[in-house]
Amino acid sequence: MTRILITDDNPSMRRSLVRLFHSKKFEVFEASSGEEALRRFEGEGVDLVITDLQMGGMSGVELLAEIKKRSSQTPVIVVTAFGTVETAVDAMRQGAFDYILKPFSLLELETKVDKALAQRRLLAENRYLREAIQQSVGRIIGQSAKMQVVYRLIEKVAPNTTPVLLLGETGTGKELVAREIHKKGPRADRPFIPVNCGAIPENLIEAELFGYEKGAFTGATAQKKGRFELAEGGTLFLDEIGEMPLYLQVKLLRFIQEREFERVGGTKTIKVDVRMIAATHRDLKKEIEARRFREDLYYRIRVIEMNLPPLREREGDVAALTHYFIKKFNQELHKNVRISEEMLEIFSAYRWPGNVRELENMIERGVVLAEGEFIQMEDLPPEIHSVALPSEKGRAAAALATPASGSLTERLETLECEMLKRTMEEEKGNQTAAAKALGIHRSSLQYKLRKHGLL
Ligand SMILES: Nc1ncnc2c1ncn2[C@@H]1O[C@H](COP(=O)(O)OP(=O)(O)OP(=O)(O)O)[C@@H](O)[C@H]1O
Ligand SMILES: [Mg+2]
Repeated sequence: MTRILITDDNPSMRRSLVRLFHSKKFEVFEASSGEEALRRFEGEGVDLVITDLQMGGMSGVELLAEIKKRSSQTPVIVVTAFGTVETAVDAMRQGAFDYILKPFSLLELETKVDKALAQRRLLAENRYLREAIQQSVGRIIGQSAKMQVVYRLIEKVAPNTTPVLLLGETGTGKELVAREIHKKGPRADRPFIPVNCGAIPENLIEAELFGYEKGAFTGATAQKKGRFELAEGGTLFLDEIGEMPLYLQVKLLRFIQEREFERVGGTKTIKVDVRMIAATHRDLKKEIEARRFREDLYYRIRVIEMNLPPLREREGDVAALTHYFIKKFNQELHKNVRISEEMLEIFSAYRWPGNVRELENMIERGVVLAEGEFIQMEDLPPEIHSVALPSEKGRAAAALATPASGSLTERLETLECEMLKRTMEEEKGNQTAAAKALGIHRSSLQYKLRKHGLL
């Protein structure tokens, strides 16, 4: 039941208001002064306050201020007599939800109360949603065996400052994992500063990382701190470290060894305490061979190396991530779409060259474009349409087998069955070879064979 507190030092006025709201099925509390109102407010968990402005002792405006201090979300409606409109305006400025002029009809007051309560509900809902979204942001989804290895390593490296090198294809979650290591460690309440070495122009990156002194170059009109200094006490995330120019690699190496550096154009040596996490999707060994990356730096940054597996190797995670992203985008886009079992299967068979980011983007697109209850094939980009047709040979075979009618799902099913048969024949029943030829996992091959009664 909604709880209302009515404050008025005029007993007859108070009584008529109490009667009105009683009859409207509110739980009503009354107070004959501001002081008493505040006591009741603190004791009773009130949803809305109505108060007269002119009262002996604590005034209505003072009561309003005290209530707002205790609970900024509780709506307060002030009642004011003709001639004191100024005070009412003042009350609005201090956060009153609305005011009402005496004499007023009870209906008028009731309307304002309804409006205030509706707004309060909306605000509460909004806050709840925001919190739910914030909590889910940055959660690492997936229970596959390969991700369990990653989780165990995160737990091990988080408590100390040993440099970590994160390796993995694009979109595998390198930045997400770097943040997780930071969040789980003793530096969690200090800054996490990401630097994308590939995104900053080569001539600016030194100044960006190490800062500069006034007059260091044209345009350096004031001293500026670099990202290393900004990360003091926290974590510096050097993303795409393979793109870092050679001359800076020297400076970075010195920093890792000595924990000190100079700003560009400066002579003062600066010491900072930061944890370094680096990431790259490049093969650094090849970069070393090509003399684009310093070997000594490589051994310094990779004290601990973490490999993030490509999505196609994470058994079962595609489904989990799909459901997670559908929920996320349904919330964000105020929709309520779902995904069919068939589509999930197609998702699980796809190669995902762009990994989790590609899946995330694809689902966002699907949720935006879906018109009915389910995401349809035409809501998704073309690359996933040909999932069941990975090779030229397969495509040719498929052309023969394509049924001329039926729903898309039915036709895909027929096609899939045909291709499985052919490939198994071609590979003389060797499942491992057939799975490889089709670019899918052996376990999904077995699943599909069983589904079509071929096993
Ligand atoms: N396991 C996961 N669970 C939930 N979301 C994930 C997961 N892995 C990645 N993501 C999401 O996928 C997107 C890409 O992840 P991230 O930016 O960490 O990848 P990356 O490896 O740094 O990619 P790149 O090499 O292209 O920079 C982000 O939106 C991230 O939140
Ligand atoms: Mg990244």
